[in-house]
Amino acid sequence: MRQAIFLHFFLGFLACLNTVSYVQAEDPYVFLNWVVEYGDISPLDIKQRGILINGQFPGPTINVITNDNVIVNVENKLDEPLLFTWNGIKQRKAAWQDGVLGTNCPIPPNSNWTYRMQMKDQIGTYNYFPSTLLHRAAGGFGGLNILARSVISVPYPKPYEELTVLVSDWWKKDHKDLQKILDSGSPFPLPDGILINGKPHSTSFPVVPGQTYLFRVSNVGLTTSINFRIQNHKLLLVEVEGSHTMQEVYDSLDIHVGQSSSFLVTLYSDPKDYFIVASSRFIKPVLTASAILNYQGSKNAASGPLPNAPIFQFHGSMKQARSIRWNLTANAARPNPQGSYHYGTIKVARTIVLENTAAVIDGKLRYAINNVSYVNPDTPLKLADYFNIPGVYTLNTTKDTPPVGPAVLGTGVVGTTLHDFVEIVFQNRESSLQSWHLDGNDFWSVGFGSGKWNSALRRRFYNLNDATTRHTIQVYPFSWSAILVSLDNKGIWNLRSANWPRRYLGQELYVRVWNDEPSPFTEYGIPDNVLLCGKAKK
Ligand SMILES: *[C@@H]1O[C@H](CO)[C@@H](O)[C@H](O)[C@H]1NC(C)=O
Ligand SMILES: *[C@@H]1O[C@H](CO)[C@@H](O)[C@H](O)[C@H]1NC(C)=O
Ligand SMILES: *[C@@H]1O[C@H](CO)[C@@H](O)[C@H](O)[C@H]1NC(C)=O
Ligand SMILES: *[C@@H]1O[C@H](CO)[C@@H](O)[C@H](O)[C@H]1NC(C)=O
Repeated sequence: MRQAIFLHFFLGFLACLNTVSYVQAEDPYVFLNWVVEYGDISPLDIKQRGILINGQFPGPTINVITNDNVIVNVENKLDEPLLFTWNGIKQRKAAWQDGVLGTNCPIPPNSNWTYRMQMKDQIGTYNYFPSTLLHRAAGGFGGLNILARSVISVPYPKPYEELTVLVSDWWKKDHKDLQKILDSGSPFPLPDGILINGKPHSTSFPVVPGQTYLFRVSNVGLTTSINFRIQNHKLLLVEVEGSHTMQEVYDSLDIHVGQSSSFLVTLYSDPKDYFIVASSRFIKPVLTASAILNYQGSKNAASGPLPNAPIFQFHGSMKQARSIRWNLTANAARPNPQGSYHYGTIKVARTIVLENTAAVIDGKLRYAINNVSYVNPDTPLKLADYFNIPGVYTLNTTKDTPPVGPAVLGTGVVGTTLHDFVEIVFQNRESSLQSWHLDGNDFWSVGFGSGKWNSALRRRFYNLNDATTRHTIQVYPFSWSAILVSLDNKGIWNLRSANWPRRYLGQELYVRVWNDEPSPFTEYGIPDNVLLCGKAKK
């Protein structure tokens, strides 16, 4: 034991000196070189400017194994600064790699920067996308799948094959025109269509009859909840965002912006094609994309009406969300069962109630959380901390409960201490569905309820036994959602609306998880290739 700790410390110490400080030498490496550039795409049959990664839209799928070191050299050939973020990758002890403007200077045009990440103790279905401006509306997104190490058991039989499915809403307008709409203070338009792996109708998934497939589905869209279903096939839910779930059968599942789910689908022995459907939820008109489940040897094209969307609306969707539970005896990335962590018995150190609002500030539409509408300072918060640069942000600009008073522009940062166990309640008093994402830490999605939250609801409505951990949670209209999070990852982490126009107009903040001991045990040092900008430039 002592030896192991010493070795750990020694490696950590070496890592500090070493150029490759973000990765662990004993684990395998995956090297990727990405050329990111504009190119013509026509997802909705009209030519428009897309963001391609190595010529691809959507971007290449990253398939890795737990603990792999992933080195991604990004060459930015766009005409604007760029960052990618790795949705749900915890970046353990390495907020430096998170790829949002609070942690990183953006990669300037015509230059490159290399992410050095480790997929530490994670399994599951994730994705990546550009976090800057409205780039995501032009592409640059892709799947990121982390498979279990061979020594770790997975609570379901090995599927014949895995299929990565990206569902997203889509606009015919150029991303810069969409940005101009927001900059001018006008409301964001409704989407023009829904895509499955970049196409509204013609994506084909070749499959072998009789086999079982793992569908890894992510909603990489900007604003729209999507219902996913397959004609005449059942979806056996096995995982959400790195949690192994109780394996329940669903006809269809709502997947909200930023979320991922994995399903096992067992095929019939007769070869025939079927429709895969992704349709918009909670907007009118309903937009529908379809793809083909193309059985090998099939002589029958997919036919018949597309499978119906569920008739249930918000209430039923909330019930469905509550039905997704942790399998307490299954392990995830590590050999100990998920349920051995009794999160429901841990004392909550702090409760933070965050209310989303739309507000008019300086004559323009903005979005706020606890009436602070976030403005990115020129200097990333992480660099301000590292170089002790004053005047970049003030801790606790965002209050723990919605304050009285008009919404203001600001750089909202919540200060917490490493290992704080925190309850965060998202209070939505608007008529639209919200979706919230936290970087750096998974959380237990313990409760969904309607109306205004109060602490008595905690006992009546929280699942303190087998809620799943995830990184993105939906908040229904005129409702609340509650999460519990153990802030065990030192750093400064983006808590954002996954609804992209809202985030672009200020609906985000940062959670600073801090202790005063600089140590490679709790956080790796500054990367030697760090980009400097703003007040950190000199
Ligand atoms: C940029 O990429 C090229 C190769 O693609 C590489 O030789 C160079 O070292 C990279 N520069 C940085 C700063 O990462
Ligand atoms: C829970 O996980 C165990 C593996 O520990 C597995 O055998 C069992 O089938 C799973 N149960 C459900 C309902 O998913
Ligand atoms: C937050 O700001 C909005 C718009 O400025 C205002 O309508 C609302 O009352 C404020 N909230 C509180 C709790 O004061
Ligand atoms: C921020 O708020 C927390 C919780 O109220 C408190 O413990 C901490 O001291 C505050 N930090 C500052 C700098 O005000």
